[in-house]
Amino acid sequence: MSRIIRIGIIGSGGIAGGHLRAYQNMENVEIVGAADIVPGRARQFLDAAGLTEAQAFQDHRRLLELELDGVSICTPNVSHYQTTLDALRAGKHVLLEKPMSVTLDEAIEMTQASQDTGNMLTIGFQPRYDPNMKLIRQVIQEGKLGKVYYVEVGGGRRRGMPGGTFIRKELAGAGAMADIGCYSLDFALQALGSPKPLTVSAVTSNYFGTNPAYHPEASRFDVEDFGAAFIRLEGGITLQFKISWAMHMDTLGASMFLGTDAGLKVTPAGQGPWSGVWDGQVGSMTLYHDLLGQHTQTPLPRIEHNLNVFEEKVKDFVRALSDGSAAPIPASEILYNQAIIDGILRSSAAGKEVDIELPNLG
Ligand SMILES: NC(=O)c1ccc[n+]([C@@H]2O[C@H](COP(=O)([O-])OP(=O)(O)OC[C@H]3O[C@@H](n4cnc5c(N)ncnc54)[C@H](O)[C@@H]3O)[C@@H](O)[C@H]2O)c1
Repeated sequence: MSRIIRIGIIGSGGIAGGHLRAYQNMENVEIVGAADIVPGRARQFLDAAGLTEAQAFQDHRRLLELELDGVSICTPNVSHYQTTLDALRAGKHVLLEKPMSVTLDEAIEMTQASQDTGNMLTIGFQPRYDPNMKLIRQVIQEGKLGKVYYVEVGGGRRRGMPGGTFIRKELAGAGAMADIGCYSLDFALQALGSPKPLTVSAVTSNYFGTNPAYHPEASRFDVEDFGAAFIRLEGGITLQFKISWAMHMDTLGASMFLGTDAGLKVTPAGQGPWSGVWDGQVGSMTLYHDLLGQHTQTPLPRIEHNLNVFEEKVKDFVRALSDGSAAPIPASEILYNQAIIDGILRSSAAGKEVDIELPNLG
């Protein structure tokens, strides 16, 4: 029988419920406590799940005084930085919700803190657990495309702008980039084996979010609802990226990886306003290559599954805690994602291409 893993949850809002349910479905996990800055919310959160014995706090630092193996951090983006640093320095391993942080400097410090303390910092990009996403990565990593030199990813929603903390720069850091763009970037970066970003040229806009005809909270809306970027990655790879929370279009089309031996086209699952390969929803995968001198298209069979990828990411964290293995989705990888988002915002503000500079950590 594996040992009991003791867990705390910081933030008791929407996504914390997903973490809690996943932990409750695991026999070797005990949810020891939760914290939320809104008075009474952590208690209510735990009680509603029947966890009346678990401890509730308003201040996450009190939760971190308990004997815990790991914590899930499920707060708005703006508090990812401080809660993560506090948790790592209190000797806890961390599963942090996406996006990693609000600024690149924060992400660098968080990655460094994980290395300095020796505590795991893993970021919750659950689409990585989709078997079709894994297949795409495998095809690319096995070299089936030859040298990959150009990639296009992105997607959008015809209408799909959230509200609340997601539309305020001071709380979310960025809009569509931080909410769904980071998934799309992770799709490309993880499939390519995490190449380092070098430069970014980007534009962002918010014509929809700031228009009361399209958003009920238009007067509070100060983030981007659209972005497009041209990103140079190490190894001579160009990444073209676009993401949209709202647009007058049904879809922003397929994703593609162009290689010297073959190309891979990935279409989004479903049709219409919410389609886009930014959240692990793969519709079809087709290899374009030459066979015996003929232009050939080979469909890759889509893997049908009923895995709950969100639960898989939480399970993988617990697995790493149980056997002492490395972070499933290490901060050092997601740093590149955050660096691109930072570059997109800087480039858009400057109206020109910007360099991405990252320290050598560790
Ligand atoms: N992986 C996913 O599928 C997914 C989906 C939705 C949201 N998210 C991410 O999860 C995070 C939270 O989103 P949400 O939709 O649950 O937000 P939410 O607003 O529903 O919940 C956030 C909770 O955190 C609490 N909080 C704020 N600051 C805190 C602090 N310093 N200490 C303790 N509690 C604090 C708030 O009071 C609130 O209860 C965001 O970063 C978001 O990007 C991920």
